[in-house]
Amino acid sequence: MSLKIFSAPVVVEEDPLDLMDEIDALKKEKDATILAHFYVDGEIQDIADFAGDSLKLARDATRVTTSTIVFAGVHFMGESAKIMNPKKRVLMPDLLAGCSLADSCPPAQLAAFQAQLRAQGRDFQTVAYINTSAAVKSLCDWIVTSGNAREIIDRVPKDKEILFVPDQHLGRYLVEITGRKMILWPGSCMVHEIFSIQDLIHAKKNNPRSIVIAHPECPQNILEISDVVGGTEKMRQYVMALKEPTTFLVATEAAMIHPLTKAAPQHTYLPVPGIMASSGETCACNRCPHMARNTLHKVRDCLRDGRPEIEWKDYFQQARAVLDKSLLQ
Ligand code: 13P
Ligand code: SF4
Repeated sequence: MSLKIFSAPVVVEEDPLDLMDEIDALKKEKDATILAHFYVDGEIQDIADFAGDSLKLARDATRVTTSTIVFAGVHFMGESAKIMNPKKRVLMPDLLAGCSLADSCPPAQLAAFQAQLRAQGRDFQTVAYINTSAAVKSLCDWIVTSGNAREIIDRVPKDKEILFVPDQHLGRYLVEITGRKMILWPGSCMVHEIFSIQDLIHAKKNNPRSIVIAHPECPQNILEISDVVGGTEKMRQYVMALKEPTTFLVATEAAMIHPLTKAAPQHTYLPVPGIMASSGETCACNRCPHMARNTLHKVRDCLRDGRPEIEWKDYFQQARAVLDKSLLQ
């Protein structure tokens, strides 16, 4: 009997510093600019030309002067960059980086619901969170981000009802702060929905002088016991304005700790843990699995290979009109 010996494939670990150098050189060679959302790994934010929240990055995309944009974020962000700057080639490290909120509102379902409301004689405008597909944006009147939502809601004529899609929690919060009535789509973010209220109460008790900062994508029970509610850029501004070293309990995606620490290193930041619906156990599920698809390797590979790319689609033109009037005017 002969013995066969199998050996496992050898995985060569590349040094992150070498990868960063390689990315820097490729950026110049390929005439590219890297945009990174605050929820991707800190090392990607550090090599990016622009790091920020959804609103800032959508606006930054229109100011890019190179021929290529690499968007380290999720699919709807890459689409928005392409829509707002169609002449640029927009690459993404991983096209499969999606979003549970965007997925919760398929365009055909939205169109059917809008038709049903119209058939009932309802006079409404549709306001979409930027966390939606371009096909959904093309069916809407306004686009909001967590950074400009209040301002945009104020621009919706007072005699119109508002259909808000797809985040029910952000929508409920906007009803509370603007006083406008809204029909809410039942979507939610898989990361912000599962923060553990028990763990947060416990952490508050253990850190009596701490300040809770929470993203408005969190459910009402979390927002009710938070001190500051705001999108990622508002969080950053808030911690920067406070000079006294403070402990912050952070109810948003865990990678956000990186830009907060960079902006205001005098503070301590504790991530609020999530809770698994299946077992009720506490978990480190406050990392978005879609954002985590972005790695330094994939940034290097997409720059080197010139793919994957966001391709222009016909309906981008209608989505462009809505994005431009909402984010640039
Ligand atoms: P902001 O960048 O607007 O705070 O949004 C957070 C988010 O969920 C992005 O996916
Ligand atoms: Fe979507 Fe939530 Fe991930 Fe943001 S954190 S990309 S809203 S799933």
